[in-house]
Amino acid sequence: MVRHFLDIHRLSAEDLRGILDDAHARKAARKGWPRGRVDADAPATDHVLAMIFEKNSTRTRFSFDAAIRQLGGDSIIANAGDMQLGRGEPVEDTARVLSRMVDAVMIRANSHDDVERFARVATVPVINGLTDRSHPCQILADLQTIEEQRGPIAGKTLAWVGDGNNVCHSFMHAAPKFGFRFNVACPADYHPDLRDLARGGDHVTLTSDPREAVAGADVVITDTWVSMGDGDYEDRLAAFEAYTVDAALMATAASDAVFLHCLPAHRGEEVTDAVIDGPQSLVWDEAENRIHAQKAVLAWCLAGG
Ligand code: CP
Ligand code: NVA
Repeated sequence: MVRHFLDIHRLSAEDLRGILDDAHARKAARKGWPRGRVDADAPATDHVLAMIFEKNSTRTRFSFDAAIRQLGGDSIIANAGDMQLGRGEPVEDTARVLSRMVDAVMIRANSHDDVERFARVATVPVINGLTDRSHPCQILADLQTIEEQRGPIAGKTLAWVGDGNNVCHSFMHAAPKFGFRFNVACPADYHPDLRDLARGGDHVTLTSDPREAVAGADVVITDTWVSMGDGDYEDRLAAFEAYTVDAALMATAASDAVFLHCLPAHRGEEVTDAVIDGPQSLVWDEAENRIHAQKAVLAWCLAGG
């Protein structure tokens, strides 16, 4: 059975917990090591990961490349625009060809449906490296960051302030799987997709009031107001004006609350300098943990045979 990593709601709670535990273990095991050294178990030895990017990326691109190397494997990276995919070759044909050439494929795509189509045909694992709909790899790194600073995620309250976007969706998928509460505050016109909201069940609450969502929360999270592919920049800036995470909002969270942002950040829009560069911010640990979390995802996918 090919193990795809397409969305958090598609995996069992047990598999997800195993991936997160592996991320913690792999990070701890190589503390102080040079970044190019291969992990002792080298689970990707003789394996090649292909990465396809339809959108820009810094963290996903570098973390997956570092990850596959630290697991003992190799990578091939291409921008979709440089591939025949960019000239209209069908997604399915691309999936058939790459399945004959590499051992796993990570895709960052404009359309979530394209990743699903690719995975339906691929005979090697396919990993969702962000779509318009979700960003599951990011959430594992975020949960790893919270757990290493504040202990087990189960029972914690996380507050999301801003756009009900792809990253928000993946947090909603994760809430029932990991047993945390996820309070979302967003303007009415920019609420999450209701199908993704439903996947969160009674672990997720939705409000338009940031203070209501953040009150007493253990973690406060935001993301850009304008995601890649969003065209309505001016409308969004106006709609999100009251949704900046600033020191006053952070003060309404738990006294030991931490701040997360998947990056890239827009200081002065969704977050102030004082918060993202302040003592509660874990954004650099969060970015580093992309490597450790992505290694655990890759190891899980490759272990499927
Ligand atoms: N957080 C994240 O996915 O960053 P990139 O867009 O740089 O990959
Ligand atoms: N929501 C953002 C996340 C970037 C990592 C976007 O899709 O552009």
